[in-house]
Amino acid sequence: MKKLKVHERCLLKCWGKEMDVLEAIKSRRSIRKFRKESLPPKTVREILEAGRWAPSARNSQPWRFIVIRDEELKRRIAEATSAGKFLADASIGVAVVVNPKATRHPVEDGANATMNMLLAAHSMGLGACWIGSYGSPYEEEVKQLLEVPRDWLLISIIALGYPAEKPESSRIELKELVYVDRFGSKERLEEVAGFNA
Ligand SMILES: Cc1cc2nc3c(=O)[nH]c(=O)nc-3n(C[C@H](O)[C@H](O)[C@H](O)COP(=O)(O)O)c2cc1C
Repeated sequence: MKKLKVHERCLLKCWGKEMDVLEAIKSRRSIRKFRKESLPPKTVREILEAGRWAPSARNSQPWRFIVIRDEELKRRIAEATSAGKFLADASIGVAVVVNPKATRHPVEDGANATMNMLLAAHSMGLGACWIGSYGSPYEEEVKQLLEVPRDWLLISIIALGYPAEKPESSRIELKELVYVDRFGSKERLEEVAGFNA
């Protein structure tokens, strides 16, 4: 039988079991504590593949993914951030950088690739956390450390590794978030979305 490519296997999985995707979305948590184990290259590749298959405006794919594996570099980048010090203990980091000249929606494109990788990591039993970087006071410093061209954007750094914690999280109730037809209206919510405010 023909050997299926990674994205073909993913499509088959998704078509067969949509619930898996929903389950991954709901059970993913930001992981900031990691076990001291390194990730196999095959695993890292699968996560990067998930980033590659993210949607982007006009399929511009304006991103590059920088795998941060050098311990000293990882530590220096962790130090440069304000809320990403835990990167130092992650197995690797992945910086998502975007060329704003290649797309009209650089931030959204980079965010999509980031989110795909967070979900892929979670679905494979790994832990990951988005370290906010775009527009941060340390964006330029981290870009310099990674030798990113000046006009490119650093959208995110993902800390990645085997999880050493099981944090909880919460969300605002759906009924607080949803309107029908116009801002503020909760009329016919039951009919449209199957729940009441
Ligand atoms: C754009 C963005 C930036 C974030 N930056 C950081 C960060 O710098 N440090 C951090 O610890 N978590 C960061 N997070 C993770 C959020 O704190 C986390 O997603 C949120 O608290 C919800 O928790 P959960 O992901 O476990 O559900 C960021 C998330 C996003 C989407």
